[in-house]
Amino acid sequence: MAISQDSSKTSILSKLLSPLRKKSSASELELLGAMDSGQPIGDKEWQKSGKEHSWLHFTRHSPFNTSDMRIIVRGEGHYLYDSKGNRLIDALSGLYTCNAGHARQELADAAQKQMMELDFMPLWSFNHPRAIELTEKLLSIGPEGMTRIFFTTGGTEGVETAWKLAKQYYKLMGKPMKHKVISRMTSYHGTSHGALSITGLPNFKQVFEPLVPSAFRVPSNNYYRAPEEFKSEEEFGIWCANRLEEAILFEGPDTVAAFFIEPIQNAGGCFTAPPSYYKRVREICTKYDVVLVADETITGYGRSGEWFGSIRYDIQPDMMITAKAITSGAQPLGALFLKEKYFEPFNQGMTTFSHGYTFAGHPVACAVALANLQIFEREGLVDNVRTNSPVFRKTLEKLYDLPIVGDVRGDGYFFAIELVKDQKTKQQLTREESEKLLRGFLNNALLDAGLYCRADDRGDSVVQLAPPLTAGPKEFDEIEAILRKVLTEAWKKLNA
Ligand SMILES: Cc1ncc(COP(=O)(O)O)c(C=O)c1O
Repeated sequence: MAISQDSSKTSILSKLLSPLRKKSSASELELLGAMDSGQPIGDKEWQKSGKEHSWLHFTRHSPFNTSDMRIIVRGEGHYLYDSKGNRLIDALSGLYTCNAGHARQELADAAQKQMMELDFMPLWSFNHPRAIELTEKLLSIGPEGMTRIFFTTGGTEGVETAWKLAKQYYKLMGKPMKHKVISRMTSYHGTSHGALSITGLPNFKQVFEPLVPSAFRVPSNNYYRAPEEFKSEEEFGIWCANRLEEAILFEGPDTVAAFFIEPIQNAGGCFTAPPSYYKRVREICTKYDVVLVADETITGYGRSGEWFGSIRYDIQPDMMITAKAITSGAQPLGALFLKEKYFEPFNQGMTTFSHGYTFAGHPVACAVALANLQIFEREGLVDNVRTNSPVFRKTLEKLYDLPIVGDVRGDGYFFAIELVKDQKTKQQLTREESEKLLRGFLNNALLDAGLYCRADDRGDSVVQLAPPLTAGPKEFDEIEAILRKVLTEAWKKLNA
């Protein structure tokens, strides 16, 4: 596939870059030369240049020494298209972002209109109409009791902001020692030093140690692997919540500022929790004056079958982090929801929350978010998830006839399939087996078969699915058929 460039634009770019050319490598010269002369550019040029100069996130680069990168050139509706002309069904919504599907005209129109009206203004001492309007809109769909929005550009920044805010809040309230945070094992809360400290994945953290001190972990709600003594998920939920109380008492309630949870925990594979868990967690946080922070970076904006997981599971958080699907991924934006209580001490005298980001609450991102939420409402996307989630679950549960499928779990449009060596005993794959199966086979085999989803072993080995909220039974069947074929093959590889 070759996509030609607008030669007038590329020759201006090329002239601007020409002083740099002397130091450029062969691949750059080839690509820039082609751009300059208006020659068609396609997979061959992108591969060469990408392999020589790109650095992808969370990506092992050595395989690109012998094989090509996946270069995605286009998205439309539920599908992605790569530079070799292949079509993939997007069963991960980009990265839990494109909830309204790809290439929505209204989002492009909203961005263009806003760029010509006010292209940029920071929220540093100033405000702008789209941020104000979006704030009102978000509060109208958010959990009860939220009255303030602090914008960010993504999930990590939301986590970082919530922790810093909780620390300063308690200092202002005369409790200066309340600074520690507690989160759950195997949780993921982002990559900056603070957010990574809260993250519960030791293997991800090791190479960056020492991180920010004062972050501690309690068990997550992995009911599939709960000890047999627990007779129900409710009972296990209470046990998990009580570990939070234990940790607060152990560390000292006067030192603990916040507890962070994802309403459906992503890493480890879509762990849900029963109502007993959230009820008890709320009681504990209230009792010890600990800020309950719901990290809805993934679960926000319809993914769970409600606007927010906090509403669906009646979590009643004090702060709620959202990002990703707020714009359906068309612009980077995050919004931290807060109860008034946390703002009040900052509304006095010379007190300031000295924290912010240049691009947080960008006017174009806010305009796109407003248009995105209009699409959600007009097309009833949250209702669509609620109606079709049981159909999605049932479709995936058909895969139980494959011996490699141990557990199908999740909620809304967010499911994980745990891969096992033995369905009856729930025997896990070893680290080596998982490495071989996921990175040696599954990742590529799923893409080759036309399915973009996530094969992940940050916890136990799982395949995760989170399609756009516009999807329905037709897409579920397409996803199931590809999974069936590839997982059948995976079982053979595992036992070869
Ligand atoms: C629960 C949770 N928190 C935080 C983050 C980090 O978000 P970002 O990559 O936008 O910084 C993620 C990313 O997936 C997430 O799932």
